[in-house]
This record gives sequence, structure tokens and C-alpha cells, in this order.
Amino acid sequence: MITMEDIIREGHPTLRMVAKELTLPISEEEKQLGKDMLQFLKNSQDPEIAEKYNLRAGVGLAAPQLDISKRLVAVHIPGIEEGIDEPIISAVMVNPKIISHSVQSACLTEGEGCLSVDREVPGYVPRHSRITLTYFDLEGELHKTRLKNYPAIVIQHEIDHINGIMFYDHINKEHPFKIDDDVKVIS
Ligand code: NI
Repeated sequence: MITMEDIIREGHPTLRMVAKELTLPISEEEKQLGKDMLQFLKNSQDPEIAEKYNLRAGVGLAAPQLDISKRLVAVHIPGIEEGIDEPIISAVMVNPKIISHSVQSACLTEGEGCLSVDREVPGYVPRHSRITLTYFDLEGELHKTRLKNYPAIVIQHEIDHINGIMFYDHINKEHPFKIDDDVKVIS
């Protein structure tokens, strides 16, 4: 299983590389990697397993964070409303691509965090508030999905990872909490 020791941290050159597209059909090894990445996220959100293995909770993970420079990401976003067990989105995405996005921008009121960054970096991270995304699943089937707000922000954070971009690259250096008036701040 994947643990925090497998995750590389900021400063590692792989986090700054543009990752390579996977060739379809993907290999068995790549398929297993995708499954392991999703399982890591589920484990990290399970209080007992997370404590036992010292996992920091995460909702997204990209292969470059495991020092594997490939365009493969996993996301697992639990439902926010109480009593709803269904995750909002839970998927392994091969070669994900944002094909269109809103003009409207949004950022999270709490800022962002990253499993590859062992420190708090305060500041707003402006992103597109809505995106249309295509990706292949592990079986090679093409998906097209529209996402908004939090899930859209998580996906953009992960797609940044496969392009060598860190979330704090988007933060205004002089005024971390300064954003344009038309950027929606969401919680
Ligand atoms: Ni990250």
C-alpha cells in the first residue's frame, strides 16, 4: 500500500516536470498504480487506518507525487452532507484534460494544502469555478464530466501536478489574500 513515505515533497524535481501521457491501453502496472492511488485516498480519510499508518488526509493524488512522471491522477471527495455516504466524485483519471472552463473564477476560503507540502501556505488560490473535463478510466473508457466549485478546484490542483505546477504558484506573493472582485470565495 502507498504511505506518506512514498510521497515526494516540494523541492523534488519530479514535481516540476510536465508528466508524460499514458499510452492506451495502459499496462497492468499502471492500472494497479491507479487503484493503489485511489485506495491511499480512501485509507487517508478513514480515521482508524489513517492513524495506524500515519496518513495525512487527502482528496487527490497525482502520480508525479509518487515520483512517477505520468498523467495519472486519483480523486476521492466524500459527500459533505451528513448521512450521505456516496462520494461526490471518486475516480482514477488517465490523461485528464480540461476542455473548457468558466470565465468565473473561484477560490477556497481556507486556501489549499498538498500532501507534498509539509507546511501551511496561506493565501487564496484562484481557479476556474467550472470546468469540463475529459479523461480515460482504467479500462480505457472515455469520460466527459462537468464539475463546479470544490470538486472542480481539486481536479485543477491535481492537473497542475501533472504539469509541474504547485498550488502556491497561483498565490499573490505580496498580498496572499488579495484577489480580483469577480473571484468567488467558496467554503
Ligand atoms: Ni497537491
